[in-house]
Amino acid sequence: MDDCQPTEILFTAAQIQSRVAEMAAEIRRDVPEGLHLVAVLKGAFMFLADLARRMDGEVSLDFMVVSSYAKGTSSSGEIRLQKDLDTTLNGKNVVVVEDIVDTGLTLAYLQEILRARLPKSLRTACLLSKPSRRQADVQVDYVGFTIEDRFVVGYGLDYAERYRHLPHISVIER
Ligand code: IMP
Ligand code: MG
Repeated sequence: MDDCQPTEILFTAAQIQSRVAEMAAEIRRDVPEGLHLVAVLKGAFMFLADLARRMDGEVSLDFMVVSSYAKGTSSSGEIRLQKDLDTTLNGKNVVVVEDIVDTGLTLAYLQEILRARLPKSLRTACLLSKPSRRQADVQVDYVGFTIEDRFVVGYGLDYAERYRHLPHISVIER
């Protein structure tokens, strides 16, 4: 497994940038005021940074850290909240910013705990979605790209903590 290398490029940096700009405009249209972005680290760090920069008007940000993958490409099936938000969600128009929805288990868990904090609205933006892998029936309001069941790295996404820095998204062969 250690010799896993990114192979073909699925989305170039330019394709990602143009899609992220469209998503920012779409979110802003739906949430003209009081937009609070909640990014899920570490995977969403690059997506959040680009999305936030593309937003017109005021935005507030917060971060949480969850882990769903113990190591490599296999799910541990267990989700841990490792760092909670710094501020309350009460009355805010919250958009959860995630890197990828795979089984949907992480997102289902997050949406449940965030909804309990009574935001004014709760939406979710994911850069990537693998619908064929879904185990939990979660709502994703904004999807950057829909992909097949392949393991991808780059633009925040890792394989065993590697390749997060890549400006594009590549496939890794398992
Ligand atoms: P889920 O709970 O199965 O939806 O998994 C969500 C998390 O798994 C994501 O936030 C990623 O951190 C990780 N993940 C799922 N698929 C991939 C992938 O193809 N590449 C890198 N990380 C992935
Ligand atoms: Mg990850």
